[in-house]
Amino acid sequence: MNIKIILFLILIPFFAISNEVNIEDKSVEEVVKQRMANMSKIKAYSSKMYPMTMSGEFDEIKEVNEKLLHAATEFKELFPEGKQGGKASNLIWEDRETFDTYIDNFIKSIQDIAISIENEDSVSLMENFNIMASNCGTCHKKFKN
Ligand code: HEC
Repeated sequence: MNIKIILFLILIPFFAISNEVNIEDKSVEEVVKQRMANMSKIKAYSSKMYPMTMSGEFDEIKEVNEKLLHAATEFKELFPEGKQGGKASNLIWEDRETFDTYIDNFIKSIQDIAISIENEDSVSLMENFNIMASNCGTCHKKFKN
């Protein structure tokens, strides 16, 4: 194997760890700002997607849905220990298991949208979009102040 590839493989865990240390090292204000920015993106992508679900433009919806998936997956990592604040309820840190389940349900609903897009199935796409959108209120009611 090429020495550069070997070095890269050895360094991957360090990159992963340094990434984690980064978020722990950030101030509460920075982490809250990032959470807000992430949620704004989630709101923007889901609003953009809604009219598209009726358009049959599957390539365009796919692009937005992938961005939504990315933003939702990233969101999960933005609640490290000691970073309580913003509009995030303290309950997130007290009942992490339930919060993680809510996020995982949200992520799964976005993955289900991706399946509808792959199948070019407009009916299931609209159903899955509605399921995805219902996660917003369910989570906010419990975990957002
Ligand atoms: C698993 C939980 C969860 C899901 C699902 C979720 N949110 Fe949120 N949302 C939060 C939390 C927690 C905050 C507060 C973050 C903070 O202030 O640190 C928030 C904040 C927001 C904000 C900023 C609110 C403000 O007053 O500034 C918007 C907008 C928002 N969410 C929209 C959405 C939309 C739209 C969806 C669905 C497409 C969604 N959220 C799904 C947990 C969630």
